Amino acid sequence: LHKAIRRQRQMCIRDSNTSMRFFFYKGRWIEMNPAALSEEKIVEIGRECRRYFHAHPEISTQEAETSAKIFSLLEEWGLSPVRGTGHYGVAATLKGKSEGPLIALRADMDALSVREETGLPFASQNEGVMHACGHDVHMAILLETVLRLLQRRDDLFGSVRILFQPSEELSPTGGARLMMKDGFLDGVSGVFGLHVWPSYPVGRIGIKGGPLMAASDRFRVTIKGRTAHAGHPHEGVDAILAAADFLQEVSHIVSRRVSPLDTATINVGTISGGSRYNVVPGSCILEGTIRTLNETTRDHIPQWLEGILKGLEQSAGITYEFNYFRGYPVLMNWPKPAELVRQTAQETLGEEAVMAHVEPDLTAEDFGFYLQKVPGAFLWLGCSTPGTPAAGLHNARCCPDEKALEVGSRLMAGVVIKALAALSADHDFFQKDGSLS
Ligand code: NI
Repeated sequence: LHKAIRRQRQMCIRDSNTSMRFFFYKGRWIEMNPAALSEEKIVEIGRECRRYFHAHPEISTQEAETSAKIFSLLEEWGLSPVRGTGHYGVAATLKGKSEGPLIALRADMDALSVREETGLPFASQNEGVMHACGHDVHMAILLETVLRLLQRRDDLFGSVRILFQPSEELSPTGGARLMMKDGFLDGVSGVFGLHVWPSYPVGRIGIKGGPLMAASDRFRVTIKGRTAHAGHPHEGVDAILAAADFLQEVSHIVSRRVSPLDTATINVGTISGGSRYNVVPGSCILEGTIRTLNETTRDHIPQWLEGILKGLEQSAGITYEFNYFRGYPVLMNWPKPAELVRQTAQETLGEEAVMAHVEPDLTAEDFGFYLQKVPGAFLWLGCSTPGTPAAGLHNARCCPDEKALEVGSRLMAGVVIKALAALSADHDFFQKDGSLS
């Protein structure tokens, strides 16, 4: 990592007489005074950052170069970044003109093991790894937001903590809890984040109070029977037949145990069992995921799953091993911060920018951990190009429209300014229910 940072630092020099900083950009040395950059330059730097990250993707827990790049940029811009312990998180605090509350903005950093098929000129140079979930865009937006906030320091009634979080894709562990363990959320009164959203056109956003994304848990069941000759089934215990019964019963959990007004889905995604076509199968392993939008329902599901297995123990004579892994919680937006995002979007992007109807999605995000501790909101940022079919997230052709960088950074800068103003006037503002007054 240190080697990588040194390499990045070589791109920036400081004149010891004038203490002006210069950095190497597009083949020449230019003076770096982030507060004096033109709008065009900010947009250009945002785009360059995005393309750099896109070309150099790194999977969860391996974000060394990404981390070094961010670290050196923040240093060049006059911030004093710090690294997380034992992983590649980076945090920095941007102080406003006056003392006041602290707002955090978070971007995730990791890519996926996907072979890129976009054909972009800045496609992944890292074979078999791709920023297919738009985290390259999230990082660039946060960096662009920093530049915008550096220009508007006088409007900041407090400070902003910039959080670059690794390993978002590493469910059920995730990087959010590591960032919290490192104390990066200490003293924070509000936290905001975003995800690019290909089902919305660029320029529009989705925001709502309450549940936005699902809790995501995972299970693994090993059903143990007893092998026997296929001609003597009565001498064995058929683990595959018991697995078939288990699958039938699992489908009844969502249809009969969960309220029809609530939302849950259970997907058994792998099944493997048996050893030979003419042997009664002695074991079968099933793995699946559970998505819920309500923590109470979420807490019931493991008992219901295990209840089915206990029944099969009695009726079919199997034994079992049941492993349940609790993953990310429900991402639950706080009402006031969500309303603040909605208002800021209307003011900075236009009345039409906010999608009228936003339904929760059963994908998951470890941003939910932050919201369990601190008030805040997460939004979806439209990123498809109108008139062009959009490839979804985690797709090898996923390709967010770069106009989303400007939209996202203008919005987030606006959110910070508005949130600090609201919290300096009333430091419990985000704890309150209902709409903005
Ligand atoms: Ni993602």
